[in-house]
Amino acid sequence: MAALSDRLEKQANAAMALSQRSFSRDSVPTRVGVGLKPEHFDAILETRPDIGWFEVHAENYMGAGGPPHRFLTAIRERYPLSLHGVGLSIGAARDLDGDHLARLNALNARYEPGLFSEHLAWSTHDSVFLSDLLPIPYDDESLARVADHIDQVQETVGRQMLLENPSTYVAFKESSIGEVDFLAEVARRTGCGLLLDVNNVHVSCTNQQWDAIDYLNRFPMDLVGEIHMAGYAPSQDDHGNPLLIDAHDRPADPAVVDLYDHTLSLAGPIPTLVEWDNDVPDWPTLFTEAKRVETVLSGHTKTERVDAALAV
Ligand SMILES: [Fe+2]
Repeated sequence: MAALSDRLEKQANAAMALSQRSFSRDSVPTRVGVGLKPEHFDAILETRPDIGWFEVHAENYMGAGGPPHRFLTAIRERYPLSLHGVGLSIGAARDLDGDHLARLNALNARYEPGLFSEHLAWSTHDSVFLSDLLPIPYDDESLARVADHIDQVQETVGRQMLLENPSTYVAFKESSIGEVDFLAEVARRTGCGLLLDVNNVHVSCTNQQWDAIDYLNRFPMDLVGEIHMAGYAPSQDDHGNPLLIDAHDRPADPAVVDLYDHTLSLAGPIPTLVEWDNDVPDWPTLFTEAKRVETVLSGHTKTERVDAALAV
């Protein structure tokens, strides 16, 4: 009984915090943004390119000062910003790292990003930090744990976060809930929004032999505050079946662009990030990729946005 009242009180506190400072889809423009890389700091500040917004990985800015913050401050003064965390281990079967969460809170306060997101994944095991983002089984236990972790994040940061669908390579036999249903229920319990990574949908659906169109048709588009687009690396498993790796090292594949187009036809225009984190190209190449994706987005500006549940 005490646990139930404790949870209800936490939900009430979270709702109050969210009502004071939740995201709206206009918090970054409904345009294409790109992941901000140190290689491009100078080119961006010198040429002021026509890019809708930038996204940074929070973990790259957790030091107190130095050149990274100097450049980010200068770019933040000129462009809308999104903050994307990859290291909080929302899905881990352990308590969140309080120090990491405090640093995330400080970054949100310092830069006031228009969007704030995290992965549905875990990247720590005991005290070991794993560089890859690892998926979790989808069951009642992990659902309750993830919801508790998101409650804690939103209460601490005092704003709504977006939760990103992961790229997966194997199915957990323990899973008893479908991925889309799991994400939708986490959002319903916590009031978080969702970040839909369309490349992750293509990677996971190919690897797991799911139907990507069906996945998208069932996805709660009214909760999506941001889309990710990226490139994958094709490979094969031991049996010769296609195995796609979420590599972020090239332009988005035409099949992923088609899924993006389908997503927008369902959801209307949504701020979209081009993620290119490995083999980072020169600025003109990244800019060209952003404009290619923005052409697709621009084709949907007349599509009505599904946004009923965004105004938490
Ligand atoms: Fe992503």
